[in-house]
Amino acid sequence: MKAPRGTEDLLGSDSIAWDIIQNTAKDIFSRYGFKPITTPIFEQQDVFVRGIGKATDVVDKEMFHVLSNNGFDKVSHGESLKAAQNLALRPEGTAGVVRSAIEHNLVPQGGPTVKLMYAGPMFRCERPQKGRLRQFNQIGVECLGAADPSADAEIIIMLIRFYEALGIKKDSIRLLINSMGDDNCRPAYRETIRQYIHDHSDDLCEDCNRRADINPLRAFDCKVEKCREIMEGAPKISDSLCDDCKAHYEQVKKYLDLAGIAYEEDPRLVRGLDYYTRTVFEVQVIDGLGAQNAIGGGGRYDKLMEVMGGKPTPGIGFALGFERTYLALQASGIEFKEDSESDVYVAVVDEACANEAFSIVQALRDAGVRADMDHQGRSLKSQFKQADRMGCSVAIVVGPDELANGQVTVRKMDTHEEEKVAVEAAAQHVADMLS
Ligand code: HAM
Repeated sequence: MKAPRGTEDLLGSDSIAWDIIQNTAKDIFSRYGFKPITTPIFEQQDVFVRGIGKATDVVDKEMFHVLSNNGFDKVSHGESLKAAQNLALRPEGTAGVVRSAIEHNLVPQGGPTVKLMYAGPMFRCERPQKGRLRQFNQIGVECLGAADPSADAEIIIMLIRFYEALGIKKDSIRLLINSMGDDNCRPAYRETIRQYIHDHSDDLCEDCNRRADINPLRAFDCKVEKCREIMEGAPKISDSLCDDCKAHYEQVKKYLDLAGIAYEEDPRLVRGLDYYTRTVFEVQVIDGLGAQNAIGGGGRYDKLMEVMGGKPTPGIGFALGFERTYLALQASGIEFKEDSESDVYVAVVDEACANEAFSIVQALRDAGVRADMDHQGRSLKSQFKQADRMGCSVAIVVGPDELANGQVTVRKMDTHEEEKVAVEAAAQHVADMLS
């Protein structure tokens, strides 16, 4: 049997890379006050439909639905499901975090800003290719309750610092930013784009035409090359921003300048999710990842809380894709080596010594040492080979002759230097040696 198409097993150094990247994120993001949150991997479908938008690719085409056996029977007999039974695997993390913030009143009105971070798998039924999976891992942050441009700048800076901390070179990535306006200025812009799509309808794909009246801005992230070319010529949102949005955007840029963060303004960056207002941004790898070059992205979503049934609460966040970030790291020659598996190997000369060996291994672990022993009745020679393979620096040999004197042999694996130590003192002795 094989793993499903578009999914990956994280084995060996890949799994270590996922750990290291999460730990780096925790380290950097905690400096900015972000605290962990974990939400379910599936939610009521409506969380995503309302949160992300029905006319987005993510919801319209790529969502995985979750059915119990009972639900499956109902659906296959043409019956409809109640909202609570209508479940989907999360395609992204923001909608679930906002649902949770509303449900648990995490951001009381007038209260301080709440900063949350999460990591885990997301699911989108896209056509799999390098850097594009159906199950992929994201690390994301959501900052709720802060409307000030300093919050926008802070999380953009934090994302860049994260990539720097991983070792991604500054000149191998670019930061794109844009403002998408708000309820004041965006409706007029949408209308302009709707008209633009109608004027170019013959050259645009069916999807772009279909969405022209529902959600015209989606035409900007259409993947069809011809549509991309045509949308290049569309009017820019930067020319339609209202004074407040303009001022907000200018201040975000000022803060980025103050922090020495390089960015490129991309007036056509609209991102693929409907909840964004004002600032949006994306970090792209310049070479090597082809079309899947966005290693992270996010933006402000000041209306999302209300849309999902909460009190008006501004928000801003981002998510970075682990797999693409890892590809970018590998492309810049950064490797994550597997650590040794264990520090101490307790070798048993014959079965009669097994009880003592077993107790020493447990005592070593209780003393905080990574220790292991054989569970397959192997010869002493194979046990030493295994100790080498695991990268152990010390072996404790438990044999009948030494045991008769109440002792075991402690051997340094590199120099083969040996000493005899009392059985009951062996674990602590080796723990002290290693510390
Ligand atoms: P997104 O741009 O859809 O934003 O995804 C964020 C990142 O996830 C992308 O930049 C990419 O690295 C990775 N990613 C997306 N789809 C795939 C895929 N099929 N395979 C591999 N990697 C993928 C969001 O998800 C928003 N929730 C970000 C956000 C948080 N905005 C505000 N708060």
